[in-house]
Amino acid sequence: MGVISQDVRSGAKPDRNLALELVRVTEAAALAAARWVGRGDKEAADGAAVDAMRLLINTIPMDGVVVIGEGEKDEAPMLYNGEEIGDGSPPHVDIAVDPLEGTRLCAQGRPGALAVIALAEKGAMFDPGPCVYMEKLAGGPEIADCLSLEIPIGDVVKRVADKRGVSPTEITTVILDRERHAEGVRQIREAGSRIRFITDGDVSAALLAVTEGTGVDMLWGIGGTPEGVISAAAIKCLGGQILGRLWPRDDGERKAAEEAGYEIERVLTVDDLVGGNDAFFAASGVTDGDLLQGVRYHPGEYATTESLVMRSRSGTVRRVSGRHDQKKLREVTDGLYG
Ligand code: FBP
Repeated sequence: MGVISQDVRSGAKPDRNLALELVRVTEAAALAAARWVGRGDKEAADGAAVDAMRLLINTIPMDGVVVIGEGEKDEAPMLYNGEEIGDGSPPHVDIAVDPLEGTRLCAQGRPGALAVIALAEKGAMFDPGPCVYMEKLAGGPEIADCLSLEIPIGDVVKRVADKRGVSPTEITTVILDRERHAEGVRQIREAGSRIRFITDGDVSAALLAVTEGTGVDMLWGIGGTPEGVISAAAIKCLGGQILGRLWPRDDGERKAAEEAGYEIERVLTVDDLVGGNDAFFAASGVTDGDLLQGVRYHPGEYATTESLVMRSRSGTVRRVSGRHDQKKLREVTDGLYG
């Protein structure tokens, strides 16, 4: 509302909301990956999502460079890091893709697999470089000032409980179930607080953490750096904070990161991870989850999708339901998905 009236006053027209075009891309990836749910083949599921995403992303007029993609060119020829996408016309954007966030969730038929894409102004996205993992801490706007990666996580939980005026037993932190989190888990338990463990999918968990009424107050733990940047794009749209600190797995990775100019100890905020104020985010559910419904089939007729579509500058958050005629879709996509 504010953005539109300001634009009207200044004589400028509201511009394109790219997220509305991006949703076709995530819908396509979700529809393609959904064919592989529970079939135990995460590479095939991921490959199907990548192929579908690639087919649709090229329909969007833009001048984009993939900052977060599916690896290096030689290893992953599809949507690789550094690839230029689009027809070269404005807007000039950085692109982050995760065609299948939660490959194992999809392959094992578990809840919470998503197809995700995020865009920001050119040069605005943090490039993870050689750093595969980062420590992350995310929460909604009302607890944003309690979050810190420089004090023990047990103390963060107590701060959040104080801020909310409740006991730590009423605070829930979502954490990837990994051995590396043992000390943090011990501290949170010692503080008398609750944990919700997930097997995979910390983008979805970050979104739950910043959204009111989900039963989750915070996301904490070490997960993928690319997923941290993608989560930051979403949090710019939704409000809230995500803090990140690179977490090299060994001395080799630390050295490579330092040589590339990364400050390992630096705590990055949501605005360091995604700068500017024009980020776009779209995600579609592959399997049913707390955030989004997954792809559902009405066999032989149509499939349905549910997506989140957001833009930071306007703060618009949309939920989009799609109904996809399977026969027609197969025809127009040459059988790639549908
Ligand atoms: P993939 O979809 O690439 O399999 O990632 C799933 C995920 O759970 C992410 O959500 C998370 O950030 C990362 O993997 C954690 O990595 P790891 O499984 O190595 O602990």
